[in-house]
Amino acid sequence: MTQSQVTGKIRCAAFISGRGSNMMALVEAAKAPDFPAEFVLVMSNDPAAGGLDWAAGQGLAAIAVDHRLFGKDREGHERAIDAVLEAHGVEFICLAGYMRVLTPWLVEKWQGRMINIHPALLPDFKGLHTHQRCLDAGHERHGATVHWVTPGVDEGGIIAQAEVPVLAGDTADMLAARVLVAEHRLYSTALRQVLANLTKI
Ligand code: GAR
Repeated sequence: MTQSQVTGKIRCAAFISGRGSNMMALVEAAKAPDFPAEFVLVMSNDPAAGGLDWAAGQGLAAIAVDHRLFGKDREGHERAIDAVLEAHGVEFICLAGYMRVLTPWLVEKWQGRMINIHPALLPDFKGLHTHQRCLDAGHERHGATVHWVTPGVDEGGIIAQAEVPVLAGDTADMLAARVLVAEHRLYSTALRQVLANLTKI
């Protein structure tokens, strides 16, 4: 019997590449008894990702599959990750600052069961350096988006967005810090909404 059969919660993995503050916010939110998910695994492509230690300290499985060991074999890296996901009975994936572009193989396998948070109001500013690009474009509003993961990078259906005003004198770092606060609130709210709809099917 899996843990989710015991608790009724969907078994989630968070994917990180660095400090993992969005992962931490998700794990904390999921501690609420009525939250529809539990985090059972934190996965990283980088053994040095700061968030791994925090996750291990929470008693979670915190596992790195170092992409550098696979050279150009991106699918091989993801097949190794997928084996870890299967071993932990993962049912749903939250990309949370995972900075590798996924191959169609993993995306297709997990389509409909994998979401991402992006630090911009999609469809604006797909890709990297979103805060500086928003300032350079002179936009008055910025923010974050939670979306489904599909083969096109940052192109999947939008689940939820949080707006953050751009203030006079903002630097990219100042704007990033305010967007990050909004991300932490947005991601768990969006996950709750997505899982409530999934479990109704
Ligand atoms: C977050 O701002 C997240 O939206 C962004 O990386 C940061 C990770 O911070 N993700 C992307 O840019 C994905 N393309 P965190 O590690 O503290 O959650």
